[in-house]
Amino acid sequence: MTSHPILIAPSLLAADLLNIERDVRVCEGAGADVLHVDVMDGHFVPPITFGPAFVERLRTITTMPLDVHLMVSNPDHQVEQFAAAGAHWISVHAEVTPHLHRTLHRIKALGCKSGVVLNPATPLEYAFEAAGDADFILLMSVNPGYGGQAFIPSFLGRCERLRSWLDANGLSHVQIEVDGGIKTDNARQVIDAGANVLVSGSGVFGGPVGDRIAEMRRY
Ligand code: DX5
Ligand code: ZN
Repeated sequence: MTSHPILIAPSLLAADLLNIERDVRVCEGAGADVLHVDVMDGHFVPPITFGPAFVERLRTITTMPLDVHLMVSNPDHQVEQFAAAGAHWISVHAEVTPHLHRTLHRIKALGCKSGVVLNPATPLEYAFEAAGDADFILLMSVNPGYGGQAFIPSFLGRCERLRSWLDANGLSHVQIEVDGGIKTDNARQVIDAGANVLVSGSGVFGGPVGDRIAEMRRY
């Protein structure tokens, strides 16, 4: 369990790309807390999605915090651009960020919350040394690259261990974000395991957005 407020972060990957503004308004009206933007480069993961220009345009239509998840092979080449475009949160994958300490502090110096992301098979220890430099740790609960995949249950044990480790090491303020396969029927489990930022794409946009968000938040 977490002492942090529960934040629901719809992933725009599952929104209607031809009606993004409408879907952003739906998320706002439904009480979403953060908008999750999945940046994929066709290299770290096969698909190619959104660039800084998209974030810049989003910024003009909403004041909701924009959470940029960089699924790119060279995140150091991207953080300045996304911060300048208006990102509030920027997360980088530990698997492809050789100088995590430097990158996380650069993100903070640019005025953004900094996050470290771990793939489902990446040892939790990859985050330990950097956790004190981060505002949040994003634990993937699917292999990154695609929306609509099934939740990987080993997430739950990993999240519990990470939450305990953070709390035992004076890092209770570090939040845990979960991304992949989050639906109304497993939201409670991931919150119980210690996550407080819940990313959901198909789980939110696949039905009545307001009801889905309210149900995920209900505890
Ligand atoms: C997957 C992305 C996720 C994705 C989640 O690589 O990082 O943010 O949009 O989609 P769902 O919630 O449908 O699994
Ligand atoms: Zn994501």
